[in-house]
Amino acid sequence: MKILETERLLLRHQTADDLDSLYALYCDPDITRYIPDAPRSYAEARQELEWHQHGHPRHPELGLWATVHKESGQFIGRCGLLSWTIDGVDEVEVAYTIAKAYWGQGLATEAAQAIRDYAFGPLGFSRLVCLIDPANAPSARVAKKMGMYFEKACVDKMGAFHLYAMELT
Ligand SMILES: CC(C)(COP(=O)(O)OP(=O)(O)OC[C@H]1O[C@@H](n2cnc3c(N)ncnc32)[C@H](O)[C@@H]1OP(=O)(O)O)[C@@H](O)C(=O)NCCC(=O)NCCS
Repeated sequence: MKILETERLLLRHQTADDLDSLYALYCDPDITRYIPDAPRSYAEARQELEWHQHGHPRHPELGLWATVHKESGQFIGRCGLLSWTIDGVDEVEVAYTIAKAYWGQGLATEAAQAIRDYAFGPLGFSRLVCLIDPANAPSARVAKKMGMYFEKACVDKMGAFHLYAMELT
């Protein structure tokens, strides 16, 4: 099911046919370096895909969506919205991962800005966050270009991260 479309990207629910592309994405250590809970095997990639196939099981309007490059028809990443509880507060994260061959073209920013508008508009959220490894400068740049500000440094069981946030104004 289609979730969003931008000038260059289509975001839709993942399907079983995406599994090889999703696994290939996670086989790149430059992709998983700053994603501590990324799938590490084909079986884990399948689990993640099944978890998000119809949206997030507990919050179907959220989830990680297949991100398709419209011009080539290629699956080039997974982007979407995730739910977390951080310091006792329920938060919604804008998540983005784009295959390395497509980096530096503004595609993550294009996806993130569209997801932000979808979350603040049709979904009715009033606050969004990004959880970013302190060393992940490109991701922090995308968060800032989406309108987020650095809120605080946090630590959880997966390690240290920076919380970026924005509120609907
Ligand atoms: C983070 C990621 C999604 C960015 O994808 P992308 O499509 O290349 O992003 P964009 O082209 O929209 O923007 C990247 C920005 O980071 C900047 N950037 C790239 N490398 C950088 C660096 N080493 N230091 C600072 N900024 C950097 C780019 O210049 C660009 O900003 P600009 O448009 O102002 O020049 C991609 O690198 C990725 O998938 N990384 C692995 C997965 C990941 O870490 N996801 C985020 C988890 S929080």
